[in-house]
Amino acid sequence: MTTAMVIGTQWGDEGKGKIVDYLAARADVVVRSQGGNNAGHTVVVDGQAFALRLLPSGIMYPGKACVIGTGVVIDPKGLIAELDSIIEKGIDVSALEISDRAHVVFPYHNRIDEAEERLKGEKKIGTTKNGIGPCYADKVNRIGIRMADLMDRDVFAEKLRWNLASKNRLFRDFYHVEEFDFDTMFEEYCGYADRLRPYVRDTNYSVHDYIGEGKSVLFEGAQATMLDLDHGTYPFVTSSHPIAGGACIGAGIGPHRMENIFGVVKAYSTRVGAGPFPTELTDATGDHLRERAHEYGTVTGRPRRCGWLDAVGVRYAAMLNSLDYLAITRLDILDELETIKIGKAYRDSNGNEVAQYPADLTRLETLEPVYEEMPGWQEDITGVRKYEDLPENCKKYLAKISELTGVKLGIISVGPDREQTIDLVNVL
Ligand code: GDP
Ligand code: IMO
Ligand code: MG
Repeated sequence: MTTAMVIGTQWGDEGKGKIVDYLAARADVVVRSQGGNNAGHTVVVDGQAFALRLLPSGIMYPGKACVIGTGVVIDPKGLIAELDSIIEKGIDVSALEISDRAHVVFPYHNRIDEAEERLKGEKKIGTTKNGIGPCYADKVNRIGIRMADLMDRDVFAEKLRWNLASKNRLFRDFYHVEEFDFDTMFEEYCGYADRLRPYVRDTNYSVHDYIGEGKSVLFEGAQATMLDLDHGTYPFVTSSHPIAGGACIGAGIGPHRMENIFGVVKAYSTRVGAGPFPTELTDATGDHLRERAHEYGTVTGRPRRCGWLDAVGVRYAAMLNSLDYLAITRLDILDELETIKIGKAYRDSNGNEVAQYPADLTRLETLEPVYEEMPGWQEDITGVRKYEDLPENCKKYLAKISELTGVKLGIISVGPDREQTIDLVNVL
């Protein structure tokens, strides 16, 4: 048995989809364990881009089991649309498995998400408005509806009736927005249940069995460490646990089974949505990165905020996830830069260096990044396939990231395609 895990170390969109698709060539099973269709994972195969939201990024390989685990929140309508678009492109989805314990996202969750963001005004989180927070809130509040409930007409009717009564009261009396009709929603979602039924099963047992049979299992993180509900920049976070420990919970697998934890690090930083971003660049370099890399959200199309790599954040991610390796992506985006900066610490208003990521966002706002400046390589690296062939300054930049974060280099990505990958460890 071998397992590996791919985790975002920054604010998402690091290129987890690309790294999972690359590693999936050697895996038997790919498992998503948290998040929902707030995720947008781009996989590029032979120049064709696929944006996956709920489907694991192993789906491109025929016959590999792709599991949507217990910790994921599933919007059935969105999932069916995603399945249809993938099937249309000739991809076989018969090896998909959906956990019967996963919670279901309903349109009332999206409506609450939108209404809460509106109420927050200036203080909004900038969510994807996919109902993720409200669905996880119902789960924690023990009133959520699970896939197993959706599969049983009577149980579903009872739970939906109860939930709609309570949500409609909120919509009518508090948010002052339109209510939902029970019969319409019930029939619509029974239809989705019929469509998804062949894939629904107890994935806690099936993933456990795959591991027991000695298969290679790859865990695909969504979102990222800085968006983790407990450890990220709360409240500007998502409502799940994108860290490595979250994968144990969301897949129902004990920590001893987890090996080869890759932290995906974009060679610079981006953030979509509100919240602190110490190394953000609001100048021409930030614009250059956004345009060169086309940093616009896969899910919402919003421009991503861009900045230098923040090694304090990645070091924090290395600690929280017990990272074994770094997977550094989008290195080619820096090709044209004369100089590159890397945030190695922060400085407080008294001039003292701070090496740790603070919990208090008001304090974080007062900290200034301390940068190390490095010469760029100003060469096209998209065709490089061997580490030795990378320009010297590029290797120095990679070595600096590894040194500042205390984690070994594992994979270097020099372009979106599968082939544009330098693998230093060859795990799985
Ligand atoms: P994810 O959410 O972490 O899977 O990342 P996204 O797919 O949202 O965003 C990453 C983007 O970078 C996608 O468009 C990928 O195709 C692209 N990408 C991944 N690795 C590389 C790379 O090494 N170089 C370039 N130029 N693009 C990359
Ligand atoms: P992937 O898996 C980047 C951000 C949103 C918002 C915050 C909360 O593609 O890396 P939510 O809808 O989850 O309640 O929004 O989290 N966010 C992401 N940012 N990549 C993602 O996923 C994200 N998923 C959520 O922009 O700031
Ligand atoms: Mg993404």
